[in-house]
Amino acid sequence: MRATAEANPNIALIKYWGKADAALNLPVTGSLSLTLDTAPTRTTVELDSAIADDELVLSGVAQTGRSLERVRRFLDLVRDESGSTVKSRVDSVNLIPTGAGLASSASAFAALAAAASAAYGLDLDDRALSRLARRGSGSASRSIFGGVVRWFPGDDASSFAEPVDSTGLDLAMVVAVIDAGEKSISSTEAMNRTTATSPFYPAWAESTTRQLDEMLRAIARADFTAVGELTESNSLRMHATMAGAWPPVRYQRAASIALIDAAAELRAAGVEAYATMDAGPNVKFLCRPVDADRVEAHLAATDPSARFLSARAGEGVRLVDEAATA
Ligand code: PMV
Repeated sequence: MRATAEANPNIALIKYWGKADAALNLPVTGSLSLTLDTAPTRTTVELDSAIADDELVLSGVAQTGRSLERVRRFLDLVRDESGSTVKSRVDSVNLIPTGAGLASSASAFAALAAAASAAYGLDLDDRALSRLARRGSGSASRSIFGGVVRWFPGDDASSFAEPVDSTGLDLAMVVAVIDAGEKSISSTEAMNRTTATSPFYPAWAESTTRQLDEMLRAIARADFTAVGELTESNSLRMHATMAGAWPPVRYQRAASIALIDAAAELRAAGVEAYATMDAGPNVKFLCRPVDADRVEAHLAATDPSARFLSARAGEGVRLVDEAATA
């Protein structure tokens, strides 16, 4: 009747950008990400037969409107499967700023999927949990697993994520936070506008499918340089595709571009760092753990007003024993 789960954010190295089915959150292409070891979302779901409607508290603030509605619809999926009609109180703490392109919806819906399915008594394996999390936010399907994770396109049954063996690759990610505020346009709206109006979209989908294959081969041979180059290229192609939409979608700011240039400067100086961006102005840098401090120092010199998070590969979603952590 009550369960708590924690999930970490993931950052895509090969991006998900575009839905084949909006209701089921089925992606046009496959994608691949790194789950981070920082900034988890911790969510408790508690059934309460005395309340007439679901309640949502985010970081101590009771929610109404869109975010409550999204959680309500998600809980309906869990209730449909469990046969219960009881409403719930959802309490979620996000340890990173939400809505800043830091994949907070990924950790949020992965944690909610695990906590809600446990609270309603569903016994889901990781694959079923990944499919459920996908319904909340596409990228959440990947935060069920730790390390390097791929998410398959397909139908409702076959579109889930699974871990990828990345033995021999030691990955770090330095996140440069330029702006922690809400993003100007949601990823769903931006994706739909891009698929509907950008003439570059078919090329994006075809090229991403190819880059995902190349990425899987690069990971299998533990080729850090190829992994990095594919990461930066795929991100630039995604943002170029958005620039072709109308009205155009642009998450890159002048400060973002300066940081992307800083990655090229680092590489010219012999330090491998590769930039990637999501649905916000912040920039993430894939590098080797031994280089993370040097990468962060150069980025901080480039943008003294940016804040930094330094992460390694992290674990997948887990249920939290509240008695043990109280
Ligand atoms: O999970 P959503 O619907 O917020 O989409 C996330 C999209 C990107 O973060 C830009 C790319 C990705 O694959 O995570």
